Amino acid sequence: MSKHIVAIDIGASKVCASAGFIDNNGDLQVEALATAKCTGVKNSVIISIDDVVKAIVKCKNQLEDILETSIERAYMVIPNAMCEYCKNKGVIAISQESGVIKEKDIKRVLDSSKLMHVSEGKEIIEAIPMEYYVDGYRCYKNPIGMEASRLEVDALVVMAEMDPLDDFIRSVNRAGIKVEGISLQSISLAMACLSREQRNSGVAVVDIGLETVDISVYKNDKTCYNSSMIIGGHNISKDISLCLKVPYNNAEDLKIQYGIVSDEEKRKESIKVKTSYDDIVEVGLGTLSQIIEARVEQILQIIKTELEKNELYDKISNIVLVGGGITQFKHIIDIAEDIFKMPIEIGMPRHVGALSPVYANVVGVLEDVANSLKEELEVNELNSTEHEESDFEDDSEEDLDEEKNKSGIMNKIKGFLEEFF
Ligand SMILES: Nc1ncnc2c1ncn2[C@@H]1O[C@H](COP(=O)(O)OP(=O)(O)OP(=O)(O)O)[C@@H](O)[C@H]1O
Ligand SMILES: [Mg+2]
Repeated sequence: MSKHIVAIDIGASKVCASAGFIDNNGDLQVEALATAKCTGVKNSVIISIDDVVKAIVKCKNQLEDILETSIERAYMVIPNAMCEYCKNKGVIAISQESGVIKEKDIKRVLDSSKLMHVSEGKEIIEAIPMEYYVDGYRCYKNPIGMEASRLEVDALVVMAEMDPLDDFIRSVNRAGIKVEGISLQSISLAMACLSREQRNSGVAVVDIGLETVDISVYKNDKTCYNSSMIIGGHNISKDISLCLKVPYNNAEDLKIQYGIVSDEEKRKESIKVKTSYDDIVEVGLGTLSQIIEARVEQILQIIKTELEKNELYDKISNIVLVGGGITQFKHIIDIAEDIFKMPIEIGMPRHVGALSPVYANVVGVLEDVANSLKEELEVNELNSTEHEESDFEDDSEEDLDEEKNKSGIMNKIKGFLEEFF
């Protein structure tokens, strides 16, 4: 079995893949990154499976060349836009025999929070615990091991549209890769770019891509809000194309080549640009910058309004920007800090060689998987110790197996995938 963990992020502008392994200290090491342009996705929905499959195959080949091994399995990112989030409560009674909350009770209470109406075409893929209550009292730590007769949870239940998710999974399969599990975008971003301290004190991580802006808010180390809006880097290129009357691809090149120019002298310089009518016109770098700045500021204002509207603005103390949509512009931090009036960071995965906000999702999945595997290992170790000591205890084999089947988000979602096929 390959020791590599592989992750795939299917975006509107490109497919990204990463591979890593867990070293002897239990830490994730990122070994390889691959990227391939892709035009088969629109607003997080696959519009051409063939294009997406081709891009995934290119990434697969790149990784295989670097790792010198074949890639047969991978985890994938599920974008916020594909998901709907809903708060729900779960309640269970704790077995009177033991009177202590066990791992399997956590699974049971989360399962009970999933008992709710789901509209047609959607399925519940996950329940993320937000708050536990033990015998009616809020529990500020992991409730496992606590004595109780009742356990409650306030959970964020995640539902996904099945058809688009099905297309994502099929395109990976058609590229010759089996989907081993999925990771929610909000979780992968938090894993890649946020510290526990940030997640505790309140932070918004905002992924601005080609066509979508995805916002996830963390407070008290828990995700409390996720949303997706249709706007992104594409709108900036479209504005340049419309205002300067240049073809879209040329507008994209101008945006990437010149970006936002802040130096006053440089802003007075002009460049020659070929219009859609094959005329050559002179355009001032100041004018190009103004077009870009106007849209960048509008995107940031929309994010601010979204946070204010949902009463989140006062709950966060900083904002982390990722994705390629606006993070690559010079002075973007100054522009964003002027609008948000709070510290802004560009989120970088904490791995040498992956230091780009564009790789945040795909590296975050590796972190998520690595964490889940570590958790799984710890629980298995705990269970085997318990097993050795439990000759006199009354836990059945079935109970122990259930506990082994535990826990990390990856594992739970793996269970969902098994049900799905
Ligand atoms: N150097 C650059 N300067 C400005 N914009 C850039 C630069 N490099 C990339 N971009 C923009 O980043 C955007 C793509 O970002 P990203 O790779 O995060 O999107 P994606 O994940 O493929 O899309 P989505 O998340 O919307 O599905 C494009 O609009 C592209 O023009
Ligand atoms: Mg993206």
